[in-house]
Amino acid sequence: MPEMPPEVNTSEPHPARIYDYFIGGKNHFAADRETAAQVLRRSPSAHIAARENRGFLGRAVGFLAAEAGIRQFLDIGTGLPTTNNVHEVAQEIAPSARVVYVDNDPLVLTHARALLTSAPEGRTAYIHADLRDPAAILDHPDTRAVLDFGQPVALMLVAILHFVPDEFKPAEIIGTLVDALPRGSYVVASHLTTEHDPLATSAGQQTMRAAGMAMQKRDSGVFADLVFPGLELVPPGVVLASEWRPTWVGPRPLPAEVNCYAGVARKP
Ligand SMILES: C[S@@+](CC[C@H](N)C(=O)[O-])C[C@H]1O[C@@H](n2cnc3c(N)ncnc32)[C@H](O)[C@@H]1O
Repeated sequence: MPEMPPEVNTSEPHPARIYDYFIGGKNHFAADRETAAQVLRRSPSAHIAARENRGFLGRAVGFLAAEAGIRQFLDIGTGLPTTNNVHEVAQEIAPSARVVYVDNDPLVLTHARALLTSAPEGRTAYIHADLRDPAAILDHPDTRAVLDFGQPVALMLVAILHFVPDEFKPAEIIGTLVDALPRGSYVVASHLTTEHDPLATSAGQQTMRAAGMAMQKRDSGVFADLVFPGLELVPPGVVLASEWRPTWVGPRPLPAEVNCYAGVARKP
């Protein structure tokens, strides 16, 4: 493991690295693996939620680039670089696609170079910032340099909002971001829920909180009302991440294994 800058505290678990562990990545430390193992003991399908969510993200970006003609993406809560990063999926379809990545984990910052491997026709930037300060993201010079807010932008809030409990006023945060988007823009979001397996998924949430991470899972109706009011949901609407335009025909995991809702909507 390379030497870490001091701001990366490897002795405390962090959501980005736990997620990376669940989706089979390599960027996690003992504290992350320990918390991930505790979560899995209490909520054994947690890794399925993470993998289904990641699959949704790729399909949503593919849909936006191929079918909706979107060429600009603001991806908040990027996670550690892995396969199918937003610019890779989008630029395979449209090499001119531009992506601004945002995360608040210093470890993601140290790996940001991997997120900046844009096709020459397109552009990417990485901003170390916090979703809870949306103005700082919107006003950041790199956001303004890479994204043209006169043209449609896809705002990506994928598997991040459950790390923003109600006390941080997520509806206001989302409102600020959506207000900045022109008509014809899209919002892509996913969210963990406890509604299909309340005991295990609540226990998993408790484990994360006990390890120092803010977390508030929300039921699908609450998620839909929080993120998509005033927007036009793209079919099939807000569904389990595994059921959002699946590209395979084989058996899919059960709702109580997925525990993650997802949706894509257009700003009219
Ligand atoms: C579960 S990962 C999701 C990664 C990616 N969006 C995906 O769905 O594959 C959540 C990411 O959100 C980031 N995150 C959590 N809270 C955040 C906040 N308040 N501001 C910025 N990033 C945050 C974490 O560091 C982590 O990288």
